[in-house]
Amino acid sequence: MGNTALVTGASSGIGAEIARLHAAKGGYLVLVARRESALNELKSELENAYGIKATVIVADLEQPNSAENIFSATEAAGIQIDILINNAGFGGYGKFHERDLAKDQAMMQVNMVSLVNLTHLYLQGMVSRNSGKILHVASTAGFLPGPLQAVYFATKAFVVSFSQAISQELSDTNVTSTVLCPGAVATGFVAAGNLEGNSMWDNAASAKSVAECGYNAMMKGDLVKINERSLSFMVNWVMPFLPRKTVLKMSQKTMEKS
Ligand SMILES: NC(=O)c1ccc[n+]([C@@H]2O[C@H](COP(=O)([O-])OP(=O)(O)OC[C@H]3O[C@@H](n4cnc5c(N)ncnc54)[C@H](OP(=O)(O)O)[C@@H]3O)[C@@H](O)[C@H]2O)c1
Repeated sequence: MGNTALVTGASSGIGAEIARLHAAKGGYLVLVARRESALNELKSELENAYGIKATVIVADLEQPNSAENIFSATEAAGIQIDILINNAGFGGYGKFHERDLAKDQAMMQVNMVSLVNLTHLYLQGMVSRNSGKILHVASTAGFLPGPLQAVYFATKAFVVSFSQAISQELSDTNVTSTVLCPGAVATGFVAAGNLEGNSMWDNAASAKSVAECGYNAMMKGDLVKINERSLSFMVNWVMPFLPRKTVLKMSQKTMEKS
């Protein structure tokens, strides 16, 4: 298997840390996001530290044709993508009917549509080579409805479902699809989603630890990975047995700002 990983949302947070991990193992990279200067800084850092090659592709995944443009760019450069890491994403706070619908539409485009499009474009080559790995960065938000972040939680439920379904479709190949479902992580996600003041992020995990957890799970071909044991227990052994309305109230309480 070749060893080039395309990472979306590589300009900060979990994506940048996943890129660092892959480079440290000698892997080549394609770094994708909107902030060109942050991507170029990371490219220099990784090329200098590890002697690898990193290619920067500036793309706005809110744009409907962005996945096709990214695919065309890697094809034109003759870069084979062996690992696809669909990490880019963002949330947004507030009651659904009071939020700017355009922001939620953009969120659905980034968190779901561009992720699906990129997967479709790169998966075909992986299957024909019978080799490849995909990591989707979803969230524990994907396991329950999220009042005050209704669309964000729904986008992550989509990713949790999508990744598992294609993993099963791929079970007779050497291609794997893993979904990482972190709890709170200390990144730019909080500011980007107007989530400041929510105590959930008071003891957030580091982006580095979450990246390590997801990267290792992807390398092993795990189906679903939750970074914290207590969250995993909650999601798998507590929530499924609680009444739906209780789960909804608990979920809203966790989202409320102090
Ligand atoms: N932080 C948490 O608590 C948490 C918990 C669970 C799951 N997650 C998930 O983890 C993933 C990574 O987020 P993070 O926590 O590392 O936050 P982050 O530091 O804000 O990183 C988000 C990344 O997504 C990119 N991105 C956002 N909108 C984009 C667009 N329109 N086009 C291209 N790239 C875009 C950003 O790059 P540019 O701004 O440069 O475009 C950035 O690199 C997300 O999918 C998020 O939902 C986060």
